[in-house]
Amino acid sequence: MPGDSGAYFNGKKVLVAYFSWGGTTRRMAQAIQTVTGGDIFEIEPVVPYPTSYTPCTEVALEERDNDARPAIKDKVADWNKYDIIFIGGPVWWHTAPMILHTFAESYDFEGKTVVPFTTYASTYRDETLQAIVDMTPDAEHLEGLGLTSGSINESRIQTWIDLINEQYGSLNPGGATAPMEGTVELWQRGNIPGFRENVNNSDGPDFMPNMLVYTVPENVQPKGAVMICPGGAFAFRSIQNEGYDIADMLVPMGYQCFIVNYRINPYSMQASATDLQRAIRYVKAHAENYRINPDNIALVGFSAGGILNGEVLLNWRNLTNGTALDNSYRPDELDNVPVSACAVGMIYSFYGRLSVSMNDVETLRAANLPPAFYCWGTRDGFAGQFTQNSNAVKEAGVRVETKVLEGYPHGYGSGGNASIWGNDFDAFLTPIMRGNSTAINTINADMATNTPETYYDLNGRVVSPDTIVKGVYIVKSGNKTTKIIK
Ligand SMILES: Cc1cc2nc3c(=O)[nH]c(=O)nc-3n(C[C@H](O)[C@H](O)[C@H](O)COP(=O)(O)O)c2cc1C
Repeated sequence: MPGDSGAYFNGKKVLVAYFSWGGTTRRMAQAIQTVTGGDIFEIEPVVPYPTSYTPCTEVALEERDNDARPAIKDKVADWNKYDIIFIGGPVWWHTAPMILHTFAESYDFEGKTVVPFTTYASTYRDETLQAIVDMTPDAEHLEGLGLTSGSINESRIQTWIDLINEQYGSLNPGGATAPMEGTVELWQRGNIPGFRENVNNSDGPDFMPNMLVYTVPENVQPKGAVMICPGGAFAFRSIQNEGYDIADMLVPMGYQCFIVNYRINPYSMQASATDLQRAIRYVKAHAENYRINPDNIALVGFSAGGILNGEVLLNWRNLTNGTALDNSYRPDELDNVPVSACAVGMIYSFYGRLSVSMNDVETLRAANLPPAFYCWGTRDGFAGQFTQNSNAVKEAGVRVETKVLEGYPHGYGSGGNASIWGNDFDAFLTPIMRGNSTAINTINADMATNTPETYYDLNGRVVSPDTIVKGVYIVKSGNKTTKIIK
């Protein structure tokens, strides 16, 4: 609700900091405060500017030409509590007043999101907004707004705040810092590829695809992440025995676990797959938060959940995004994070579609599939297809391990005990994930040599800042690590 502190920007704290000589920018700042419910801070010079126009313009020009840093009267109290900082001032001599530089240089903007705003008579609005962006290079930025005195009104500002709130949400789905427990919603409302109104299934019409997060204690170094896809023939999700029980088994083995609540019938398997690929991107983009190498993400799926894994591995790798399913989908920053998996667990499951395995060796080979762990019981009606599929995958050049459980039917979940197949799965995953940690080691080795500023992609490869396109990068500067979204 407008004016509600916490209604915007995932509930993060907002500060509106402004400098105003004639009062116009103050009006805009107050309107921003009214809409966002944030706190307000006036940037006031220690030495006041002349009150008449021409002398003021002379001082302003001199300050600009001398790159001056006019002193500011007060300090923002409790700077650390703010995440979203609106910074505004008038256009002065084609750019921002120098006092805004003093402000920008007085605080640490690491981890903050800056929103520039300005008021002006007729010219240099965009240059001034850009100047505010340039003076806060450590912050992330949302789209700014410049208004002339006559166009300042609350509804105009409301529309802008709504827009940047959405922009913030897409840069920080589920919050700026990835949660260590609880639920992550996978999409922004209003931008879910393939969304249908009034869907009638057990999830209800307002269902938001999501994932449940279970992490290892802080003092445990995780091996990597496992995305868990419960089965249920796409008619439901067996969340207990193929979700919670699996996380309960894998977390103590050292895996950050994510149970994916993907869409089910009447949605298509492709819609379910967009949910899973999105969940993988999220975990990869937040690899640093989850203390994992971004390459160490494995999938495990049960029955339909394994088929879903297969669908993503066959068709949704790299940068294929929701537009492949729905061309009205608007890709966001997360779509710049490539989809990949280092291994897959096919628990009474196979590559293919519901009830029918896909055993075409050439198609499987072309998909460049990760190592696979198959596990099924001899009393499972699909046992023959599991055998055929695992053989075809092996023939396609993929490393395959199989574990056949004597006398087990379909749908046993963990089997009630890690000794049934969980320990074998762990033994299969551990060396794969260890092998993958070279990327992080490379980053750490570079850090030791104190490279001034190095950009890495999410696979740990060094990229030249000149060739950077839109995407998420890890930046190491000295011994400081940050994640940036370009
Ligand atoms: C020193 C000075 C320089 C200015 N330079 C520009 C300018 O380059 N372009 C422009 O459109 N307006 C310029 N203006 C007009 C102000 O940007 C405009 O009136 C603004 O809304 C004033 O905001 P304030 O009342 O918060 O100080 C200038 C005003 C002053 C006092």
